[in-house]
Amino acid sequence: MGVGVRSSPPTSNFSPPTSQLGGCDYMCGIVGYTGKNSAYRVVIEGLKKLEYRGYDSAGIATLSNGAANLIKTKGRLEALERKINGNLVGKIGIGHTRWATHGRPSDENSHPHACCSSDFFVVHNGIIENYLELKNWLQAEGHIFKSETDTEVLPHLVEHFYQGDFLATLDEVMSKVVGSYALVIMSRKHPEVLACARQDSPLVIGCGEGENFIASDIPAILNYTRRVIFLENGEKALITPREVKTYNSSGEILSRKIEEVTWDVQAAEMDGYPHFMLKEIHEQPRAIKETLRGRIDSSFGKVILPELENCLADLKEIEKIYIVACGTASYAGQVGKHLLEDLARLPVEVDLASEFRYRNPLLTKKTLVLVISQSGETADTLAALRLARSFNCRVVAITNVVGSSVAREADNVIFTRAGPEIAVASTKAYITQLIALYLLSFFLAEIRDTIGIAQKESLITGLLKLPSLVAEVLLKEKETETLAEEISSHRSVFFIGRGLDHAMAMEGALKLKEISYIHAEAYAAGELKHGTLALITKNVPVIALVTQKNIYDKTLSNIKEVKARDATVLALVYKEKKEIIKEVDKVFTLPNSHPIFSPVLSVVPLQLLAYYAAVKLGCDVDKPRNLAKSVTVE
Ligand code: M6R
Repeated sequence: MGVGVRSSPPTSNFSPPTSQLGGCDYMCGIVGYTGKNSAYRVVIEGLKKLEYRGYDSAGIATLSNGAANLIKTKGRLEALERKINGNLVGKIGIGHTRWATHGRPSDENSHPHACCSSDFFVVHNGIIENYLELKNWLQAEGHIFKSETDTEVLPHLVEHFYQGDFLATLDEVMSKVVGSYALVIMSRKHPEVLACARQDSPLVIGCGEGENFIASDIPAILNYTRRVIFLENGEKALITPREVKTYNSSGEILSRKIEEVTWDVQAAEMDGYPHFMLKEIHEQPRAIKETLRGRIDSSFGKVILPELENCLADLKEIEKIYIVACGTASYAGQVGKHLLEDLARLPVEVDLASEFRYRNPLLTKKTLVLVISQSGETADTLAALRLARSFNCRVVAITNVVGSSVAREADNVIFTRAGPEIAVASTKAYITQLIALYLLSFFLAEIRDTIGIAQKESLITGLLKLPSLVAEVLLKEKETETLAEEISSHRSVFFIGRGLDHAMAMEGALKLKEISYIHAEAYAAGELKHGTLALITKNVPVIALVTQKNIYDKTLSNIKEVKARDATVLALVYKEKKEIIKEVDKVFTLPNSHPIFSPVLSVVPLQLLAYYAAVKLGCDVDKPRNLAKSVTVE
């Protein structure tokens, strides 16, 4: 590591796959303090306020009299406190709770991370996409790495570029990294200063008297101050006990207004939303971005799934796929069946795990078993996974929780990176399961050569647009609230659709019954006349999903069947089909997209309808009666 003119890492647009990063997602917790009191107390108390979101490891670093103290551990904050044993002095410190999306939870992978000289310490939320490239270059420059994380490149980069000016160094580092970050740096060379920066991952500065705070979320600092500054993307700040200086991406100093937080702790935990479910619905555009991050090489129009690299030969040979899951995850599987059959041209059966495990399924070495589980701990899904493995089938899992039983026992795992989901009703976990299924279908189609280049490129372009299209649907939340008001006065609601729309009808009905306790049934629209039509009478609400162009007229005929029985019909259609209003009572339009992506868009109004109906009926939205978030019993 030389001094003087600093060498620069190679610059390229290549983003290495992030799937094996030891990174942590944006739901990890950050707390920093510089002031007159014990940093240890403030940081640990702050991290405790973020515990409700879940984490797998924790760590803290403080400075006192020119010496740095770094303590970190896999496990809970109590374990960290036991390790600290009351012996952690210093009035400046940074701490972190990590919720790994990839890479094992371990002491070494926990934050803060230090550079070789232990002059700089960093906590980070997000993913540094070009970390491999940077790490190789830093290692060649002589830097020694201690963890498997992407984050560790940050303190080494700071060390490499530092020439006395903390802010200039931060600028240099930000110009070299690609990805998302909320980061805080503490340095022995600036013993009162915390330097921080934000790109796509939240950071809030708390302003006190003779002390200042930095955190990833407001609840962490609410016990100390209500005066805050929210950093925006590309912004950075230098914080000392006496002042907070914020800068824009060009390095110009900003005069940022201090805002007064009026939320109580509970509202702050929910980012001001009245329920976790609503917060999680709104997190979906961002969650989708995380699922996609580093998994698409747009320059080559390719899906990159290194988590499947070790089984390409097997995947080329498979003759059948079983998708096995429970509840909402099984409805994601229903969408997956359509995608995999359509694109990868493989026969797919979707089975409920509780059925699969007891029915002697036909499994051979050429059967791929795909298990889907948000929690990775659902007892039936786990039993199904074990059954499949006992038949020597390859098991690929789609799950949200690193280190979960499903993740540990499957042969290959695609993590959804939705961040911890707290509401019992699954929303962002479901939507990211869909995204993982698109990625898997495109990937299998590619290796099995069942898709043309032009089609693949156009689908990948469509996939990348989904975060902004979902955000567009969310702007119509008020409309769903009004529609839910009407629905909440009924005792029974029917959801109909064909193909992918039928899969969505099932998810819409489950969401509604689960949290509002309104009876809801989903039917394949063409199946109504074989029985259910008997239940359709005057004013019975029917929610018709009509997004599939090739069967539009067919579903329209089914709508006419229920209209002929005086049902009240709400149609979910693409904007381009809004003329359907002539046939129905109400229409909710979705932004146009390739119909294969309609599930990702139509689920959003279905979630909001269920949410607002439940609120209207005074239900306990986040904790519906008789249900648990993780069903670990049979
Ligand atoms: O954790 P899992 O994805 O395995 O859970 C499966 C179901 O229990 C879950 O999806 C359940 O149906 C949700 N409460 C639906 O919102």
